[in-house]
Amino acid sequence: MSFPITRMRRLRRSAKLRDLVAETTLTVNDLLYPMFVVEGKGVVQPVGSMPGVDRFSVDKLVEECQAVAALGIPAVMFFGIPAKKDPLGRGAYADDGIVPRAIRAVRKAVPDLLLVPDVCMCEYTDHGHCGIIDKNDVHNDASIELLAKAALAYAKAGADMVAPSDMMDGRVMEIREALDEAGYEHIPIMSYAAKYASAFYGPFREAAESAPQFGDRKAYQMDPRNGAEALREVELDIEEGADIVMVKPALPYLDIISRVREQFDLPVAAYQVSGEYAMVKAAAEKGWIDHDRVMMESLISIKRAGADIILTYFAKQAAKLL
Ligand code: PBG
Repeated sequence: MSFPITRMRRLRRSAKLRDLVAETTLTVNDLLYPMFVVEGKGVVQPVGSMPGVDRFSVDKLVEECQAVAALGIPAVMFFGIPAKKDPLGRGAYADDGIVPRAIRAVRKAVPDLLLVPDVCMCEYTDHGHCGIIDKNDVHNDASIELLAKAALAYAKAGADMVAPSDMMDGRVMEIREALDEAGYEHIPIMSYAAKYASAFYGPFREAAESAPQFGDRKAYQMDPRNGAEALREVELDIEEGADIVMVKPALPYLDIISRVREQFDLPVAAYQVSGEYAMVKAAAEKGWIDHDRVMMESLISIKRAGADIILTYFAKQAAKLL
């Protein structure tokens, strides 16, 4: 029966009523904080296009991780920026590379923070692609061997989980096998399963110095026009052994998050990427939007769409409000 019997406004009359009927709750437990690690000592470098985000040397990263853990944030992701890049991205899988060193140091100082290194080659290769190059193309099967080596190096250093973001075919299986063979069968894989070739990654590439030096990533990341293809990507990663599947970016791809949530039963993560963060910061700086309200509304929307885990540069700022 509709109006005047039904009046939707009845349940919106007070904050208590609205809280009582709210369908979605965001908690600090949902947040995963991505962080950038650089070489050196005592380094804290602000990222120009991402106000509030810094790049830390390992010693400073440890301090920052203590602050992150004190806010109740359960997990962090590390992106490493090596001193030297080369065509084979050796820094990605060296046992004494920047990320394994970061993991060991943070593991020791903040034992119960979940450490989830990103597994990719683009920060480590001089050409900036997510794998190794053969005839102007990323060679899939050679690249996944190196990605598996990287995942193993991070597991050995003490990672709690690994997160491949390269979008090569078969990398989840390759990583699963490498981890299992070495006795790390208990380490989960969170795969960037539906990762789009997105212009929203712009500020990240400044932070990680990982812009491709020729071409783009459209031959391995997904075409923004496609939705059904995302479900195939997710299905394949699950078959290969993914424990958590991720959709990335988040806000422009809420439909994908929602479809993945409906079709699959495992935890779904969504990555609110650097460009999404930068847009909120820039508009707020101009006084055009209310920073905190837009931040919380976007996080709640990602949760409502179906994400269990949100990777966000807002993690600390949101945790303070929660
Ligand atoms: C590495 C990687 C990227 C991001 C996460 N992992 C960049 C890319 O694919 O170019 C983007 C994160 C962000 O924009 O915040 N492959």
